Formats: sequence, structure tokens, C-alpha cells
Amino acid sequence: MTALANTHAMTAEQFRRLGEIIYQRSGIHFPETKKYVLESRLSHRLRELDIPDYDTYITFLSTGPYQNDEFQEMFNRITINEMSFFRNEPQLDVFESTVLPELLEARADIKRLRIWSAACSTGEEPFTIAMLIHRTLGVRLPDWHIEILGTDISEKALNTAMAGLYPDYAMRTTPELIRHRYFKKQDRLWKLDDTIESMVSFECHNLRDTLAAKRHGIWDVIFCRNVMTYFDIDMRKRVTGMFHSQLADDGYLFIGHSETLRDLGIPFESALIPEGFCHRKLIRKTTSL
Ligand SMILES: C[S@@+](CC[C@H](N)C(=O)[O-])C[C@H]1O[C@@H](n2cnc3c(N)ncnc32)[C@H](O)[C@@H]1O
Repeated sequence: MTALANTHAMTAEQFRRLGEIIYQRSGIHFPETKKYVLESRLSHRLRELDIPDYDTYITFLSTGPYQNDEFQEMFNRITINEMSFFRNEPQLDVFESTVLPELLEARADIKRLRIWSAACSTGEEPFTIAMLIHRTLGVRLPDWHIEILGTDISEKALNTAMAGLYPDYAMRTTPELIRHRYFKKQDRLWKLDDTIESMVSFECHNLRDTLAAKRHGIWDVIFCRNVMTYFDIDMRKRVTGMFHSQLADDGYLFIGHSETLRDLGIPFESALIPEGFCHRKLIRKTTSL
């Protein structure tokens, strides 16, 4: 039997209802052209649960005691997690060689730096940031209070992050020197150095929840790469507006290299630094969420 024959058919109405549930819970927008994505990713889930069709699945997903767990499970299936350490190195070079020295100097009196990796999936991004800070500060590290928070909507992804064990695939963009310095092979996986692990904390957070974001206070740098691409314009505005309020006036925002803040009307300016880019907050206007 072919894979196609194994796929459960999803009607237009079922797609609309599922899309609505996903949008309401996460802000992720699936346009009609992406119906096949939901169909192909969820079909396997229906077989696992022995659920005959999408109507039954939607009921299972939206009522009863398992809705939250199932939403998490569904979410893991429908988002592509192509993570790796040192993803998009030119941007990380900008962080390490320009943004970090500037902020370390600006915070030299308080010796405190706060970095949020929003939608960090399985942790490669916040751990990469921790390694960059570790190698930059070196022996000065104990003098600083460095806070790195990784958040994601997927608890499963965060549990993987907290285990600190990664397959070869996650290491594919990791420079050899970093691999030697910060990882040890443990059976077939790579175990992250304990010091780096201890520099990062993780928490479940839905980017839709802009109030919960306020609880975390003000950040010096926010990374939110390769997630806005899933959101429609309303959600992008909402999330970017929240980042604007939660960033220090001299803070920086890093978004994915194929993402843009253009047309959102949120006052950020692009800080173009050779081969990489990030955004600086413009403070002459105020934003409302
Ligand atoms: C492609 S990964 C990006 C991971 C990392 N930022 C990077 O660039 O390597 C996208 C992540 O966004 C998370 N995500 C999607 N919608 C979210 C939401 N509303 N709130 C928080 N995280 C979300 C997914 O769970 C997934 O882990």
C-alpha cells in the first residue's frame, strides 16, 4: 500500500475547524494551500489513536480530559523542527562580535544580562547563546549574572532541551572546536557540557499570551527566529509589539533570516551589520498591544 493510500482524507470543513483550533491556541495560521500539510502530518496520528476520521479527532482534541496533551502532541507533528546548534552563523557572529560587547560594556556597572530565546524548540538556540557568552566572558563569567531563558509552546520540545542530549543531526552546523569544547559523545548522542546547561532555564510559554510575557520583565536581547513565518499578520503584530514592550531601550531583537518586520508598524529599525542582521528598538513612538 502506498503512503497516500494510508492518508485519512480531510474535508474542507474539517480543515477549517482544525485550522481554527490551531489558530486560537497558538496563532499559527494554515492557509488553504497547506491543507495537505495537516493531512499528511496528522494522518499518522489518527492511525496511532485508532481514530477513524477527522470529525472524531476534532472532538477528541477539543473536549474531554486529554485536550491539552493532545494539542501538544498534534503541535509537535505539525511544526517542522529542523533545529541545530549554531544555526545561521552570520547572525550569531553579529551577536558575538557586535551586540554582546556593546551590551557588556553598557551593563558593566550592574553586571547583569538577560536574554530570551522565544520559541526555542529543543534548546539548540539558547544553548548556542550560552556557549557564545561563556567563551566571550571566560574567567569573568562568575562576576556576571547571566540569565538565558528558552521558551516554547511545546512541552515535549522543552523536555528534550532539558535532557541536554542531542543526535548527530543537531550538530550538523556546529563548528568542530565547539563540539570538542562543549560536548561529549555518550553512546550515540552528544551530551552538552554541564556548565552550559546550567546557564539556561526553560519554561513553557505560548507567544499568544502577551500578558504572561510581561511577567518575565525586560530583556536585553530577544531571539525569535524561524517561528513568525507560521503566524498571520495579526499574530506577527501582536508578538512583535510585545517584544517591543519587553525589550530594553538599547536592546536587540533577532528574527529569522527569511523573516521581516516590514509592514507591521512596530517601531524597530534594522541594524545591518555585514552578513547578518538584527533589529534595534526605536523609542520615539509607543506601541499598543
Ligand atoms: C522552527 S522552530 C524554531 C526554533 C528556533 N527558534 C530556531 O530558529 O532554531 C519553531 C518553534 O516555534 C514553536 N512555536 C510555534 N508557535 C508557537 C507559539 N504560539 N508560542 C510559542 N512557541 C511556538 C514551535 O513549537 C517550534 O518549536
